[in-house]
Amino acid sequence: MKAQSDIAVVGLAVMGENLILNMASKGFTVTAYNRSYHKVEIFLAGRAKDQSIRGADSIESLVASLERPRKIMLMVKSGQPVDDFIEQLLPHLEQGDIVIDGGNSQFEDSNRRTKALAEKGILYVGAGVSGGEEGALKGPSIMPGGNPEAWPHVKPIFQAISAKVKDENGELTVPCCDWVGEAGAGHFVKMVHNGIEYGDMQIICEGYLVMRDLLGMSADECQTVFAQWNQTELSSYLIEITADILGFKEDGEALVEKILDTAGQKGTGKWTGVTALHLGVPLTLIGEAVFARCLSAQKSQRVEAAKLIKGPAPSFSGDKQAFLNDLKHALLAAKIVSYAQGFALIQEAAKEYKWDLDYGSIAMMWREGCIIRSVFLENIKQAYDKHPELDNLMLDDYFNDVLASAQSGWRNVIAAATVNGIAMPCISSALSYFDGYRTENLPANLLQAQRDYFGAHTYERKDKPRGEFFHTNWTGRGGATSSSTYDV
Ligand code: 6PG
Repeated sequence: MKAQSDIAVVGLAVMGENLILNMASKGFTVTAYNRSYHKVEIFLAGRAKDQSIRGADSIESLVASLERPRKIMLMVKSGQPVDDFIEQLLPHLEQGDIVIDGGNSQFEDSNRRTKALAEKGILYVGAGVSGGEEGALKGPSIMPGGNPEAWPHVKPIFQAISAKVKDENGELTVPCCDWVGEAGAGHFVKMVHNGIEYGDMQIICEGYLVMRDLLGMSADECQTVFAQWNQTELSSYLIEITADILGFKEDGEALVEKILDTAGQKGTGKWTGVTALHLGVPLTLIGEAVFARCLSAQKSQRVEAAKLIKGPAPSFSGDKQAFLNDLKHALLAAKIVSYAQGFALIQEAAKEYKWDLDYGSIAMMWREGCIIRSVFLENIKQAYDKHPELDNLMLDDYFNDVLASAQSGWRNVIAAATVNGIAMPCISSALSYFDGYRTENLPANLLQAQRDYFGAHTYERKDKPRGEFFHTNWTGRGGATSSSTYDV
């Protein structure tokens, strides 16, 4: 083991431990630190035995064990614990030392911490890490942002431990980790990753619901369909694990059917939705995915409502295979809309926070290692490589073509679900967004008239240049005074 460590990792929960083991397996020497030293001792005697991993029993010994510039990666709970640990560390650090937060932190916190630490000469990195415990051990997707001066020091470690994608020669050399951008850009991209994760999961669940409640399919039959879909453009980690889950048996019966239908959530999907509202970006699918989890959590109300409020009894009498093909198209189209909305949110944030982002590179960071990994991200990279400033992924030729051929199946499925009383919030709101986005004349002319009618909020006219605002005295009772025109 080298006399001094390349990096320290703080926090020996499963992600922290696995990242340390991953780093050691790639030839780095790592210091492990945890609030209670006992956990470090257990780790050193167990999983970390005979590897280039040393323990530290105090902040002083942690800092002393590191090569300069020191690199200290926090894998602690996001929020106050990160600030508290930085406070403890600061008196022991020197100019140019690097603090990395690898948790699911809010990007505003990373914006603030990057600035506050830069004033003290410390380089801050807010890095999103995705892939769960297996990813952390074998190769996660890592999305680092923060102080760009830190990147050359952190890059060799992060790119060595991250998942890899094949290069043009078919070799696994392209790391699913690159510099995202300044300040909170890395955590922003991780937040959107998680929002997209919520959307992908809900789209899949809606597909399963239609198979189960409209087509009357068993878990085994659904398993077969998801396994087939995993051989198509839908091929992804989440489709793959869905097939596995549907095939999993407990005492000879599908376990999935014994699980209570109330979803949990730790908050990153909600942050994505709230951020979209702040930035004024229509992120309808992820919003619906968060609300679908909220509705699922109202289990006792739903049990009562199911007795009192009646809808149609689902029944299907058509060509099942053709309908399943339509359903596949519905999932694919909704997924395209979701990623289009997610990337539009990242693009808006880049303008707002003045981040210089490479959208193709972000797609590649998600290509392997993370929860939303899928073959589809390759097409997103190509779209942004062709047009780095593309306003919306749906405008790209490839995605436009896929949507064109998926469209009729998508509409059929939503029509059938609607007629049969089956809720499909994500797949159907995606279609509303798609139809709204491609509509030249929305009814917002009427909406502006309503605003002007009751509140003198003014409107722009089709027959006048943009930026000129008009007010009409609609009733003859109002005055000529209009309210100021501003948009949030
Ligand atoms: C990842 C995941 C992870 C997330 C969990 C739980 O990228 O590895 O996104 O960061 O915390 O998936 O999220 P919810 O509890 O909100 O579903």
